[in-house]
Amino acid sequence: MHSIIIFASGAGSNAQAIINYLKQHPIGKVSLIVCNKPNAGVLDIAAVENIPTLIIDKTSFNDTTFITTLAQHQPSLIVLAGFLWKIPGGVVQFFSNKIINIHPSLLPKYGGKNMYGQRVHQAVIAANEKTSGITIHYVNEVYDEGEIIVQAHCSVRADDTPETLSQRIHQLEHFYFPRTLHFLLEHYKS
Ligand code: GAR
Repeated sequence: MHSIIIFASGAGSNAQAIINYLKQHPIGKVSLIVCNKPNAGVLDIAAVENIPTLIIDKTSFNDTTFITTLAQHQPSLIVLAGFLWKIPGGVVQFFSNKIINIHPSLLPKYGGKNMYGQRVHQAVIAANEKTSGITIHYVNEVYDEGEIIVQAHCSVRADDTPETLSQRIHQLEHFYFPRTLHFLLEHYKS
């Protein structure tokens, strides 16, 4: 059984989609949820699902013992599901090709530092884009620039608000993220 660590600091709907999918396809289990916001919704999900959590701050995140803690779980994959801090170089190197991120746009468009969540959808609508989507990619040491694994598209409608576009993007994420994870667990680079 594969061990998966999720890093998430938001509502956690993607974490929930992954947890639910793994109940139907028991090829792995979420062994730890790492979070940098003590009041994040994802922590309520972790409590209900009985998944251990690790709350981090900038100091513990950058401490070398953080790598040791993660390594104890022997993760096949570390999955960033709504996590906004840049992953320290030491962690990227230690878990080379094992960290993936989901981003709510078609990278390289609307990516980079400070481009997350609703800000992305606001920018997409302001630019009058007709298409948006999601990108699942490996994490390297530059924000949103690791090798792309999967992209999925959806329309941007004339009457979309950031909220309605966000809902459509979340639907894409909840479908593709668990399935991409499943594919990678069976074929991931080592
Ligand atoms: C998701 O839409 C994800 O793509 C985005 O945060 C949201 C988290 O939602 N991530 C980023 O913007 C990363 N740059 P969730 O907490 O409901 O899963």
